[in-house]
Amino acid sequence: MKNDVIILAAGQGKRMKSQLPKVLHRLGGLPLLLRVVNTVTALPGVDKPIVIYGHEGDLVKAALPDLNVQWVHQPEQAGTGHAVLQAMPMISDDAHVLVLCGDVPLISRDTLTHLMETTPRNGLGLLTARLPDPFGYGRIKRNAKGDVEAIVEERDATDAERAIHEINTGIYYVPATYLKAWLPKLNQNNHQGELYLTDIIPMAVKAGLVINTTHPLLGLHEIRGVNDRHQLATLEREFQHEQAKHWMRAGVTLHDPARFDVRGDVEIGQDTQIDINVILSGKTRIGQRCRIGAHCVIHDCDIADDVEIKPHSVLEGATIAASCTVGPFARLRPETVLAECVHIGNFVEVKKSNVGQASKINHLSYVGDATIGERVNIGAGTITCNYDGVNKHRTVIGDNAFIGSSTQLVAPVTVGKGATIGAGSTITQNAPDHQLTLSRSPQKSIPGWKRPTKNP
Ligand code: UD1
Ligand code: CA
Repeated sequence: MKNDVIILAAGQGKRMKSQLPKVLHRLGGLPLLLRVVNTVTALPGVDKPIVIYGHEGDLVKAALPDLNVQWVHQPEQAGTGHAVLQAMPMISDDAHVLVLCGDVPLISRDTLTHLMETTPRNGLGLLTARLPDPFGYGRIKRNAKGDVEAIVEERDATDAERAIHEINTGIYYVPATYLKAWLPKLNQNNHQGELYLTDIIPMAVKAGLVINTTHPLLGLHEIRGVNDRHQLATLEREFQHEQAKHWMRAGVTLHDPARFDVRGDVEIGQDTQIDINVILSGKTRIGQRCRIGAHCVIHDCDIADDVEIKPHSVLEGATIAASCTVGPFARLRPETVLAECVHIGNFVEVKKSNVGQASKINHLSYVGDATIGERVNIGAGTITCNYDGVNKHRTVIGDNAFIGSSTQLVAPVTVGKGATIGAGSTITQNAPDHQLTLSRSPQKSIPGWKRPTKNP
């Protein structure tokens, strides 16, 4: 069967009190709308979902330029029914239409598939849920036999209707022919003076359609909408809790699942231990038996097995081979590649550099645009002067070299294999293999020198 998907995302999101359109606010690191689009894209029979966008929608399109969707403009935000109506010219009569909201970000593929599979060909599918606190949602009205009769919005509800706990999730599955017939008949007789999509329910009842209600399969977080920042934060916590549970069940030790945040596409190997307040984001892979210390931020990194990242380290775009140690207080920037057993210590920044096996940069250094061989020791306070104010230059250091503390390597420069650089040197020319190279002004002492004293 052909399934067309419509995602409603034109609302202003007034309750967010934001200049950013609501669907661009992020949950688990991704814009709300992107989460919904990613979920529906893999559903059976779905080609390109239709996204209804509104007057601030150019910002949405600009922020998500690569989204594989059909954008349909809703010129005025006259209600959810009016929004769906805008998409009708693009929908073929033989399709079934799945309607979702861009502000309900955690809906799962399982739940949507279940809704679609259980709805008869000539029926209307409605995803509902029972909430302990249904405030703000449309309530599902059923007759004495338990059949759905209508949906009534919080603002239009009587006290008795507000006491109903079964709510409308805003997710529907409707045959296109019916939808096309019903939408032009919607009216604005409600508190907000809008065309409510929910008013198709009595029309479906009148037409004698079966109304199939199903519930979310994975949990209530799936159907929670984001209308204000408090709901966004609450849902973020629920989402993080679900992820923490997932990784713990996969064999990862989290010292405190309440203080663990995944904001991206992450993989973590068995028996890895993660201490508190770690943020993993982007596309990050962590191997087995790693230890990630407290307060580390790791973005777009590939970390092999048995690596230890000590507390307060910030890593971005780094590739780290097995058995390395990094930190505490280390900063690895994009295109850092560490071979096995490398040690990066405290207050060390590495950028766009390859560091060979078992090399050590243990204290207070900056290494940028460098190629460092194996078993190299970089002394405390060493700096690659890689930038001349206009261009970046490379520093190359051979295997087994020893760079004395507080050395400046003025790139482009090469330090040979087994070379030793005396502490405090400013190296501006290549240093040969296996020799001691140093640049140091001679030390002198001034006899009879007196310390200044304070004037009386
Ligand atoms: C809507 C439902 C409510 C349901 C809830 C679930 C209606 C009338 N109410 O209420 O029954 O419980 O969702 O979360 O449908 N939108 C447009 N164009 C518009 C108006 C809205 O695209 O003109 C979009 C919004 O961007 C949003 C979605 O539709 O993504 C829902 O709109 P919103 O105003 O948030 O409706 P709710 O009050 O949450
Ligand atoms: Ca909403």
